[in-house]
Amino acid sequence: MMRVELTVNGERRADDVEPRLLLVHYLREVCGLRAANIGCDTTSCGACTVLLNGESVKSCTVLAAQASGQEVVTAEGLAPAGELHPVQQAFRAEHGLQCGFCTPGMVMAAVGLLRENPCPTEQQVREGLEGNLCRCTGYHNIVRAVLAAAGRAAGSPPGDNTAGVSRRSSSEVTA
Ligand code: FES
Ligand code: FES
Repeated sequence: MMRVELTVNGERRADDVEPRLLLVHYLREVCGLRAANIGCDTTSCGACTVLLNGESVKSCTVLAAQASGQEVVTAEGLAPAGELHPVQQAFRAEHGLQCGFCTPGMVMAAVGLLRENPCPTEQQVREGLEGNLCRCTGYHNIVRAVLAAAGRAAGSPPGDNTAGVSRRSSSEVTA
């Protein structure tokens, strides 16, 4: 066993874990946070995506020990209890989910994407989310949701925010 110290959703914690414990298992089994799902064993589905120091990562590709000393945010920690982050609101408004299995990872990937690029084009959203698989939606409404969260509509040219379904500012999205 070894001691890891992480900040998870704003809470500092210290836990003794097996050196080989994956971050996704740490979050689910040690922290009791079940939003990050395990959808594959090939690091290909993205259902386990979380933010590590603000960047989206597949938490099945990181050891808890590697994340020691760092800050992790899961979908549970995106917004205060009982509230939704603007990206979560946009997924709901744009029907960006069906079964919901991919959704926490998809939302975290979208939050990471919008932090890097607050006003992406539709193509940039599609490329940014290509590491996250969804077997239900056909992706169209997911892309719409991310563009809506960024204040842009699908098909609008770069710099055109006027056709966006949402009028949220990018700073609100990335807050
Ligand atoms: S569980 Fe599929 S990429 Fe992590
Ligand atoms: S909503 Fe079912 S896998 Fe994406």
